[in-house]
Amino acid sequence: MFAERVLSGMRPTGSLHLGHYHGVLKNWVKLQNDYPCLFFAADWHALTTQYDDPRGIEKATWEMVIDWLAAGVDPEKATLFIQSQVLEHAELHLLFSMLTPLGWLERVPTYKDQQEKLSSKDLSTYGFLGYPLLMSADILIYRADKVPVGEDQIPHVEFTRELARRFNHLYGREPGFEDKAREAVKKLGSRHARTFEHLRTRFQQDGDAGAVERARALLREASGVSEADRERLLGYLEGTGKAILVEPGYLLTEASKMPGLDGQKMSKSYHNTITLREDAASVSQKVRRMPTDPARVRRSDPGDPDKCPVWPLHLVYSDAECRERIRRECRDAGIGCLECKQPVIDGILREQAPMQERAQTYLDNPALVRDILAAGAARAGELARETMRDVRAAMGLGYR
Ligand code: TRP
Ligand code: SF4
Repeated sequence: MFAERVLSGMRPTGSLHLGHYHGVLKNWVKLQNDYPCLFFAADWHALTTQYDDPRGIEKATWEMVIDWLAAGVDPEKATLFIQSQVLEHAELHLLFSMLTPLGWLERVPTYKDQQEKLSSKDLSTYGFLGYPLLMSADILIYRADKVPVGEDQIPHVEFTRELARRFNHLYGREPGFEDKAREAVKKLGSRHARTFEHLRTRFQQDGDAGAVERARALLREASGVSEADRERLLGYLEGTGKAILVEPGYLLTEASKMPGLDGQKMSKSYHNTITLREDAASVSQKVRRMPTDPARVRRSDPGDPDKCPVWPLHLVYSDAECRERIRRECRDAGIGCLECKQPVIDGILREQAPMQERAQTYLDNPALVRDILAAGAARAGELARETMRDVRAAMGLGYR
């Protein structure tokens, strides 16, 4: 049994912030211990919306990968690479474009939404429309079983599943599939062959789930059957042909609980972020300047933590005892706001210290990052080429 493979991509948007850390990155760091993981910088995806000014993409990619490493994504455990360094993604995207109905792409909810949201840009381009298809290629080329994504990306994974199904349906039948399958049945030996045919009929005519289970068990236990034949027989049994691409599942990444400096969710577009590697003086200054409960004008005015944007930060950074004290002393004006903010500042700096340290190693020696990404692209390329061999053959392009 192979371990399930995890794959995820992130668009390079420049330096990451603590919202990314508490949402996506902590999750990646956990996943890398449990699964073989591939994480990539989706630089071609950045071009779908930034084609008019692509100059920032290289730097943003670089900063982002250093942030991943700073957060504890470990290149010894996970494969890290840049999308545009594995050209096979583009080939698969092209081949997919041949079999994807336009309507499927036009119906993807983010297509119209984003066009309206980014209305200052002309996003009536071929690349922008094809964006979910590129994402499908990213996923299917690695035969990924699990794709960690935020809620907004779930329709894209659903799209990928449908596309895999369509592909398998169109090309899953190798030339002469039926004949080869019937030959393979004979190799089971006459007694098993009869049982198998009987169970297959029961399943295909009556949808008998017990029959398909027993037939699968029979195939698992059959000796002297090659892997290729076993695959054929499974496809023959279920009437699906041979699955060339794997339908991925998603792992929903919980939304980050990290609030921004103004109480809204932390997001670059709200200008309320603290970056992953922000220097200590700036962290301290940003938190000290945060607005507090507007009712607390003077030090002697009592406040209400539930009306203060600093309070949710205590939920992330302070222990129960500190939280309890602050709730009490805020309400009876026993504590000043600057004093109340100090444990938050300390908590952020404590969290950032190991990240700063890890990042420094890479900033001092950028060749390390280049090597990690080159090794990652080589490893990813191997996996991608394996899939592409099957895809080409299935689509009649397996020239030899
Ligand atoms: N579309 C994703 C985003 O904007 C990034 C992405 C590209 C991705 N390809 C992927 C995520 C493949 C998961 C798997 O966030
Ligand atoms: Fe907010 Fe703390 Fe000031 Fe209360 S004491 S208003 S919780 S910053």
